[in-house]
Parts: sequence; C-alpha cells; structure tokens
Amino acid sequence: MKESSWLNLPGLSLSVKALFTGYIFVVGLGLMMAGAQIMLTHGMADGKFGLSVDDIVYSYYGNRNGSKLESKLHGSMKDKATPEENLTMIKWAREGADEATWNSTIKPIVDAKCAMCHVNIPTLPNVTKYDVIKEIAAVDHGAEIGSLTRVSHIHLFGISFIFFFVGLIFSMAVGFRPWIKAVIIFIPFAFLIVDIASWWLTKMNPNFAYFVIIGGFGYSVAAAIMLFTSLYQMWIMPFKGQSSIENTWKG
Ligand code: HEC
Repeated sequence: MKESSWLNLPGLSLSVKALFTGYIFVVGLGLMMAGAQIMLTHGMADGKFGLSVDDIVYSYYGNRNGSKLESKLHGSMKDKATPEENLTMIKWAREGADEATWNSTIKPIVDAKCAMCHVNIPTLPNVTKYDVIKEIAAVDHGAEIGSLTRVSHIHLFGISFIFFFVGLIFSMAVGFRPWIKAVIIFIPFAFLIVDIASWWLTKMNPNFAYFVIIGGFGYSVAAAIMLFTSLYQMWIMPFKGQSSIENTWKG
C-alpha cells in the first residue's frame, strides 16, 4: 500500500485540480477587485490618487482639525466676510453649530456675505439653509462605530473563509520546510486580526494607520505566494515531468 501514502498538489487527480483551480481563479479575481475597491473608496480620501497613510487617517480617524466650514473660512472663503465674522462662524461650528445661535447670529452674516453666490450658483451648497450648513460645519470624526462593526464582522468571517480554503489547498504543496509552510498559512489570519484591530485603533489614534497598511500588505503577499505556488505545482510541475511521493498532510 505504498502508493496510497502520498498526498500532494502535483499528484492530484484532474477533477480535484479543476476544483482547486476554479476556486483559485475566482478568489484571485476577488482579491484584485478588493484592491481596486480600496483604491476607490479610501485611496481618494485625502484628495490625492493612490493609497497613503493620510487616506487611512481620514477614513478612520477623520479630519478633526475642524469642519469643512472652518477650513474654507481659513482658505478660499476667507475674504468674503470680515475677520470678526469669520471668527464668529468658526466658533459657532466648533461649539456644535446649534440652531438658536444660527438664527440669532450666524444666518444674518451668511445672508449678507455668502448668499449672493451660494444661493444663486447651483453647484454650490446653499449655506443659507441650516440643514445644509450644519453638515458643512460638523467636525469629521471618521468612520462611524456602526459601520466599523458591520465591516469588521463581514471581513473577519468572509476573509477567514477565503484563507481557510486557500491555506487548505496550499497545505498540499511540496518542497517547503514544514515550519515555513505553517507560517505562510497562518500569516493571513494573524494579519487579518492586525488589520481589523488597527481600524479601531486608528479611529482612536491616527498613528495606528501604519498597521492597517502592514496588515493588508501582509495578507496580500501571503495570499499571492499560496495562490501562485498552488497553481504552479498543480499544472507546471507535472507538465515538466516532476512528481513527488511526499505525504504533505502527515506530521
Ligand atoms: C463670490 C462668490 C462667493 C461668496 C461671496 C462666497 N462663496 Fe463660498 N464658494 C464660492 C465658490 C465659487 C466655491 C467653490 C470653490 C471653492 O471651494 O473654493 C465656494 C465654496 C464654498 C464652500 C465649500 C463647499 C463645498 O462643498 O466644497 C464653503 C463651505 C463655502 N464656500 C462657504 C462660504 C461662506 C460661509 C461664505 C460667506 C462668508 C461664502 N462661502 C461666500 C463662492 C462664494
């Protein structure tokens, strides 16, 4: 019964290879889509293309230096009202932009100094409406807890499922030292936890943004190694006439 003691990727039957290969293709495509999605949603958060630490900070921590209203009143809208009026509006935004002060103090300034453009130019937000300016005056606190818990649990369940099967296929690869193979299989799970934990930590402290990138990078590299090695050993090795009697599942 010597022949039955092997278990490895090059020696699998055609149907099992077809199953594994189909899965690898779809998962590989999914990972690329996930990368594109990250670039589109987070990549532009700081206004520049490409994913950077600033993007992560803006996405999770927010921009707590102040509201959009405040940065505009320091920037391109600086000369529309007097410095005292600007200060009054900034102070109002920082103190939570309440409706009573809006009616008594802020609306008269906005009607006098901002309305001529912001009411008449349709592409500009109508800052004379409390509901509109309230949003612009709000300080950006980054990701909401509710959306973080939702995305966290979807990622933890979904991605661990993907890496379970990717790791299961790769566990039948030949020619690796057992501990190296074990580390490669374990890395995605460890980095997944690092990645998700660092979303939460970044929400509290922007310095943790680096861990989000390290975590994502870590499991992308481990996934690439496992997917390409598995494909190589299932198709290229037998094609080159290489085979193995290694029983990869026996400890
Ligand atoms: C002379 C016309 C004009 C006046 C007066 C004016 N704005 Fe603007 N505002 C613009 C234009 C044009 C933009 C778009 C370009 C930019 O963001 O600088 C803009 C953009 C803004 C934005 C950013 C909107 C967004 O969603 O990106 C805010 C906030 C804003 N203005 C507030 C004010 C306030 C408050 C006042 C009054 C103190 C004011 N503006 C007066 C023309 C004006």
